[in-house]
Amino acid sequence: MKKCVIAAVALMLAGSIGTAVAAGDVAAGKAKFAVCAGCHGPTGAGNEALKYPKLAGRDAAFVKEQLLAFKSGKRDNATMKAMTAGLNDADIDNLAAYVATLK
Ligand code: HEC
Repeated sequence: MKKCVIAAVALMLAGSIGTAVAAGDVAAGKAKFAVCAGCHGPTGAGNEALKYPKLAGRDAAFVKEQLLAFKSGKRDNATMKAMTAGLNDADIDNLAAYVATLK
């Protein structure tokens, strides 16, 4: 059992070093994105009619900056403030890494 856990951790580490784009974990970000997809769409295409911005094509740094700004209130939006309130720094890094894979 212990060996399995070690192997799993090693695989996860190998995976994240392989991608090495950002500090975030894409798979963990994808899991967190499920709730975001309700507005921004599963592919991040957004919804123009409802004014949910397109996220696909945005890089990780942009997404991270916006999420931190919504969370702190620096970027004033009640919906996104609520969406980011429960996210910690790792969640934000993971989400940013995942969004950056959406094209
Ligand atoms: C209930 C709908 C809704 C949900 C769910 C939602 N968002 Fe948003 N999001 C919005 C709206 C509306 C805006 C535009 C805010 C503004 O005008 O400043 C936005 C803006 C953003 C932006 C800035 C885009 C830009 O072009 O400036 C990012 C990044 C973002 N959302 C990421 C996320 C992430 C990640 C999640 C999941 C944790 C999420 N959103 C969940 C509605 C939503």
